[in-house]
Amino acid sequence: MIDFDRIPRERLMALLRSAPKAELHIHIEGSLEPELIFDLARRNGVALPYASVEALRAAYAFTDLQSFLDIYYAGASVLLKEDDFHAMAMAYFARAAADGVVHAELFFDPQTHTDRGVPMAAVVQGLARACADARTQHGIDASLILCFLRHLTEAAAFDTLEAALPFRQHFIGVGLDSSERGHPPEKFARVFAKARALGLHLVAHAGEEGPPAYIESALDVLKVERIDHGVRCVESPALVQRLAAQRMPLTVCPLSNVKLCVVPTMADHRLPELLSAGLCATVNSDDPAYFGGYLGDNFVATFTALPQLGAREAHTLMRNSFEASFSPPEAKAAWIAQLDQAFAAG
Ligand code: ADE
Ligand code: ZN
Repeated sequence: MIDFDRIPRERLMALLRSAPKAELHIHIEGSLEPELIFDLARRNGVALPYASVEALRAAYAFTDLQSFLDIYYAGASVLLKEDDFHAMAMAYFARAAADGVVHAELFFDPQTHTDRGVPMAAVVQGLARACADARTQHGIDASLILCFLRHLTEAAAFDTLEAALPFRQHFIGVGLDSSERGHPPEKFARVFAKARALGLHLVAHAGEEGPPAYIESALDVLKVERIDHGVRCVESPALVQRLAAQRMPLTVCPLSNVKLCVVPTMADHRLPELLSAGLCATVNSDDPAYFGGYLGDNFVATFTALPQLGAREAHTLMRNSFEASFSPPEAKAAWIAQLDQAFAAG
């Protein structure tokens, strides 16, 4: 039995960074730091509409999801070669390892690259090689989830899935991201059905900027196994009850929600309410290079602004991250035992 009440706040803050955890919502293109963007731009001869690293960073003042996506896609334009994708992911894994991440499921957006003429092989093979290297260099177990861009058509999503099938062994599932409002899950019903028939795991962004109805259609129409973000579920008590009863995981991204003005300040974040309602909520970094921090920073910022969250909630969030992962039961049990040990030693 872990005596959570005996863990001092200072020890808790250290555990938030050091304890073993899984990251289930990270867009690998969102881990591209300005320094690496400029480095790759120079090497690849790509012109950027920003004069310097500082000027680019200064542009990271977002008012909503779209204002972020415009800069995020511009940043990703420097990625051309397999080695670029590998370098980007290795930089993320080094940061993740320092934050106690032992398992990571990485989103990637192939259309952002293939639409610029980058071969699917360069994207997937660069990232897959990084996942293999993450194990040997950092002891991180990593896998890939291919995301469809929802502002594009379902036909384009079908083409993307088709183009990725020669690399089927390198990704475990499909997701849905980009501009949410006006692009409901229903738009991708058939391509998700095809992915399901192929045995792929299914996730979708829903209820970040979009209404609770998008969460419901992600569940009912797309048949997803996790909801990415999902924080707007709090607007529908019946939906909160349903998510809790189904133990449907939500991959919540607190710093992202503040930076994209989904919530006014971190102190207003509804994460404590989601946990009290019994939801399987997890903490994640979304696009850490753009939102002011990686996974450890997300935990620390959240627990600092919301003092009602204590050691018990930290343990629950980290345990949820393992439970909600697409890992085999034995791996989940082993990580949860490590997590218990870290807290018991506290
Ligand atoms: N792509 C990268 N980050 C995203 C987010 N927070 N929401 C939707 N699409 C994204
Ligand atoms: Zn996201």
